[in-house]
Amino acid sequence: MKTIIEPFRIKTVEPIKMTTVAERRRLIEEAGFNLFKLAAEDVIIDLLTDSGTSAMSAAQWGALMQGDESYAGARSWYRFERAVRNVFGFDHVIPTHQGRAAERILFSVTVRPGSVVPSNAHFDTTRANIQFAGGRAVDLPSPEAADPAARYPFKGNMDTAALERLIDEVGPERIPVIMLTVTNNSGGGQPVSMANVREVSRIARGHGIPFYIDACRFAENAYFIKLREEGYAGRTPLEIAREMFSYADGATMSAKKDAFANIGGFLTTNDGELAARERDLLILTEGFPTYGGLAGRDLEAIAVGLEEVLEEDYLNYRIVSTAYVANKLDEAGIPVMLPAGGHAVYLDAARFLPHVPPLEYPGQALAVELYVEGGVRGVEIGSVMFGKDPQTGEESPAKWELVRLAIPRRVYTQSHMDYVVEAVWQVYQRRHEIGGMKIVSQPEYLRHFSAEFARA
Ligand code: F0G
Repeated sequence: MKTIIEPFRIKTVEPIKMTTVAERRRLIEEAGFNLFKLAAEDVIIDLLTDSGTSAMSAAQWGALMQGDESYAGARSWYRFERAVRNVFGFDHVIPTHQGRAAERILFSVTVRPGSVVPSNAHFDTTRANIQFAGGRAVDLPSPEAADPAARYPFKGNMDTAALERLIDEVGPERIPVIMLTVTNNSGGGQPVSMANVREVSRIARGHGIPFYIDACRFAENAYFIKLREEGYAGRTPLEIAREMFSYADGATMSAKKDAFANIGGFLTTNDGELAARERDLLILTEGFPTYGGLAGRDLEAIAVGLEEVLEEDYLNYRIVSTAYVANKLDEAGIPVMLPAGGHAVYLDAARFLPHVPPLEYPGQALAVELYVEGGVRGVEIGSVMFGKDPQTGEESPAKWELVRLAIPRRVYTQSHMDYVVEAVWQVYQRRHEIGGMKIVSQPEYLRHFSAEFARA
């Protein structure tokens, strides 16, 4: 059969409250034109994030009831540890309440003032945690990533020549860890090839630098390798994931993505001495090492989720259904980032609204109109998020003006996605009437969460 269906049936449903265009106009104005300030109930299709928003399976809900809530040595802990080791293969597993807690612990024990941590592209919390520990976070995306419309298979790769130059320049002793984010969220959800993982690993090992994978979307990345990289078509996603991790010294993980959990994460490594120091910190802020900020039932849900996410029917549906949205928009002449990433579709607001200058925030203007049109909530990734220098306070345009439509796992059906495509199309039809925005109030840091806007 050519038609690829959602490989699940729906047993529990959550009603969506419908609103009118007039109501949404009022609601977004009351929210200071900031989509983070809307009540989720007032959103029809919520594509703000794919994090923590997955639908859990019947098997996961069943496992919740088996959660062992013992403080130390709970049965759920052993099940979780086995599940993580089975996929990731590292000796030590440290549970955390979400991905950024794993990052904070890792960088607290490895980064010193003056340290430099390279990545293909750091996620914002990763960057912020490196900076908080006194280090500098450096993005080294591959040159192919520069053009949002260029169809390369592995636009998430790291520029390994730039990595070698950086190591020469600052010296390996100042680089406590090299990170690789799979898939590359900040770079459009684009995958990283196995060849690139291998090459980064070779360079890191050659200089004695530990190599960590930010593994939030590891299963999607593994499936892209299966589809696009020579030699992997006959391998299972689990085998591919294991190979990816075999080149690394450890990983940080947000179980809110590719583990279908609503909360959770972990840090995992082969370095026993480091793990001991990390566990000391864990006890300080997260909890005892056999639960670390999670309930036993959360550990159960993650253990089941890590198995389900590697099922081939699921991954095929996931990658195909995301591409379905991107390709439909592309066919209609709407500027999107191509090829489609794994977890999200990125609208190119700079080309969508070319008459709106970057510092009138075309991404924000587009995200607002998409909400007004169809009650669809996405997120601006452009000059609102990245346009203000945290040191000098000065404004300059970001590299890209994007609106990310992140797709929660197993939550929306094809008709929901057809509705999203129609909403984008309708906004595109009246794009010439859409003006820019200005900021009327903003906090010092991470302004996109709470800034308020007006029409420019
Ligand atoms: N790394 C990557 C690549 C991420 O995308 C995220 C979260 C994190 C780390 C942090 O994990 O949220 O569990 O603390 N990304 C979400 C998003 C928030 O919307 O892209 P966390």
